[in-house]
Amino acid sequence: MTRVLAIETSCDETSAAVVRSAGPVGPERHGDPVLESVVILSQDIHRIFGGVVPELASRAHLTALPDVIDQALAQAGTTMEGVDAIAVTQGPGLVGALLVGAMYGKGLAWSLRKPFIGVHHMEGHLFAPELEHRNLRPPFVGLLVSGGHTQLLDVPEWGTYRIVGATKDDAAGEAFDKVGTLLGLPYPGGPRIEKLAREGRPGRWKFPRPMLGELGRGGPDEYAFSFSGLKTALLRAVQASDDLERDRADLCRGFQDAVLDVLVEKTAHLAEALGHPTIVLGGGVACNQALVSRLRERVRGGQRVVAATPRLNQDNAAMIGAAGAWRLAQGERSGWEIEPRSDLPMPGLVG
Ligand code: KG4
Ligand code: ZN
Repeated sequence: MTRVLAIETSCDETSAAVVRSAGPVGPERHGDPVLESVVILSQDIHRIFGGVVPELASRAHLTALPDVIDQALAQAGTTMEGVDAIAVTQGPGLVGALLVGAMYGKGLAWSLRKPFIGVHHMEGHLFAPELEHRNLRPPFVGLLVSGGHTQLLDVPEWGTYRIVGATKDDAAGEAFDKVGTLLGLPYPGGPRIEKLAREGRPGRWKFPRPMLGELGRGGPDEYAFSFSGLKTALLRAVQASDDLERDRADLCRGFQDAVLDVLVEKTAHLAEALGHPTIVLGGGVACNQALVSRLRERVRGGQRVVAATPRLNQDNAAMIGAAGAWRLAQGERSGWEIEPRSDLPMPGLVG
């Protein structure tokens, strides 16, 4: 058994968690991690600015982190001495924000003489669902959709990732946030657009489905995404509206339907093409219940669709603990020289 204290500070959530790895570990087994505690403190300050201000995020992490860690340990009923190893987010993310968590974790590990591991944030998102779904096993198709990334992955085994599709411009979450701003909604736009879209009428606005036409052609862009044109189409519709109050929910519905159509269709198509029995959704946009339910409707039981609950899809340290515990249990360690990187490449990438 390995009990890991995990720290995540890549953006505007200060989070710590305690995760215990209890079962077998390997390319097909994720160690049956048990979540003992997770504390997620969302930094409210950025709302005033309509987006994350990196310097403010770093300072807020520094102020909050010691208490967030203490709470995570207390909720898990343990102390720093009861922890076997420490995992931190090494990247990608805001470099100053990453620096706070990574250096804090490194300092703890050094002073306690405990093993230490730097974890890739997106690998964390991919491991989040297995904290809630015990019998999740590769091979699967992973769709990672966050504020900074949109990636469609072929995962033949844990730790081996083939990126089959990615965005050419904006990430899916970024598109939600920018459209939220265009519609006069507070940051972040994603959750508010989902809520309004539920009240909106489908089909009143028909926006383009970018790059969906590439599917089935076998070209290099078959599984690629692009969301910036959609944002422009929405801007035109907002400009053309003579009553945004009246039209807002319908516009949200039109926009969300367009994004989800592309995400759902490409993900389902890839799972069918590869013959994988499972689809794993991860990242903040996977909090969107319409995405999960539409994908389930689309595959009609042909694939099992697995997503974590919103608490573990948003940025959190539990997912870093899960991925970190898996890597530690396989004997991996980070050296003291590791540095956080805003553009950290995903480990285990294959052609
Ligand atoms: O993974 P995450 O918490 O942070 C990053 O790693 O970027 O993702 C944040 C993104 C934001 O763009 C946010 O608007 C989006 O996830 N998001 C959503 C929903 N909840 C969060 N997008 C659509 N629908 C939601 N319900
Ligand atoms: Zn994230």
